[in-house]
Amino acid sequence: MNSPSSYSLLDFGNAERLEQWGEFRLIRPDPTATGPRIHPALWADADAVYEGEKGKGIWTHAKPLPDSWLVSFDDIQLVIKLAPYKHTGAFPEQQLNWQWMRERAKKTGRPLSVLNLFAYTGGATMALAKDGHKVTHVDSSKPAIGWAKENAIQNNLPADAVRWILEDAAVFAEREHKRGKTYDAIILDPPAFGHSPTGKTWKVERDLAPLLEHCAALLSSAPSFLVLNGYARNDTPDSFKRLLTGILRTQNADRKFLFEGGNLLLKATDGRELSTGTVIRCSFGA
Ligand SMILES: C[S@@+](CC[C@H](N)C(=O)[O-])C[C@H]1O[C@@H](n2cnc3c(N)ncnc32)[C@H](O)[C@@H]1O
Repeated sequence: MNSPSSYSLLDFGNAERLEQWGEFRLIRPDPTATGPRIHPALWADADAVYEGEKGKGIWTHAKPLPDSWLVSFDDIQLVIKLAPYKHTGAFPEQQLNWQWMRERAKKTGRPLSVLNLFAYTGGATMALAKDGHKVTHVDSSKPAIGWAKENAIQNNLPADAVRWILEDAAVFAEREHKRGKTYDAIILDPPAFGHSPTGKTWKVERDLAPLLEHCAALLSSAPSFLVLNGYARNDTPDSFKRLLTGILRTQNADRKFLFEGGNLLLKATDGRELSTGTVIRCSFGA
């Protein structure tokens, strides 16, 4: 994991981020990027800017850009594209989670079976499959699964490293629970609001607790970790801890686990931090 990353957050302020994605420099809106910009001179060199509201905006280009290019996060290569809703195919703040999960998995000294729910373009899938773990990758979006498969090719993953599931996360978890399947590690990165492939809505405040109950039941007899991210305004590390403690204790009173959690932080090159959400990491065992 000692390879350098080619992503960096160069500056933020005035509700925008300036990010280096490999050889290209992008400006994107970010309502949490409050305060003034610290390095105004850097912004003049941006290659593309996302302008307008999240859903209604467009990318405008200062220079011609390729349809896609590769950006590295440690030794993981991700295919980057200028996508709708100011997306690029990677959430750089997840890099700290990828590093933590790999370290945690390494401690078990065995290949783990991992369930990655709301897996998007598969940053976590790539990170764990690269280390020899078997990942079940679940997302309700066909383009997101297609993009994750492109990432699997770029990371030279063996064909049997990932099981690709185009499905509603809650429906899949419930079905796996009924089948008696188990996993050594579970990752959840649910949006505050989303859709199943059939158009059924996902609302975190309504649907998260029942999904976590299925996830708790899906944990193997010697699980390694569970990571839960949150992006709703009411999500806090304490609310996640309370919810998970209740569910994990109800299902198995003897299970030992430890939480660490806080803001999901993205660090700029000058050391300032942007808070992009909430994360709770649960380690099992002694
Ligand atoms: C916040 S993104 C995940 C980011 C990703 N884990 C990463 O850091 O690279 C949310 C993902 O959840 C998916 N999604 C939304 N609703 C869903 C549902 N009901 N079931 C499964 N996936 C869903 C979206 O297609 C999207 O890919």
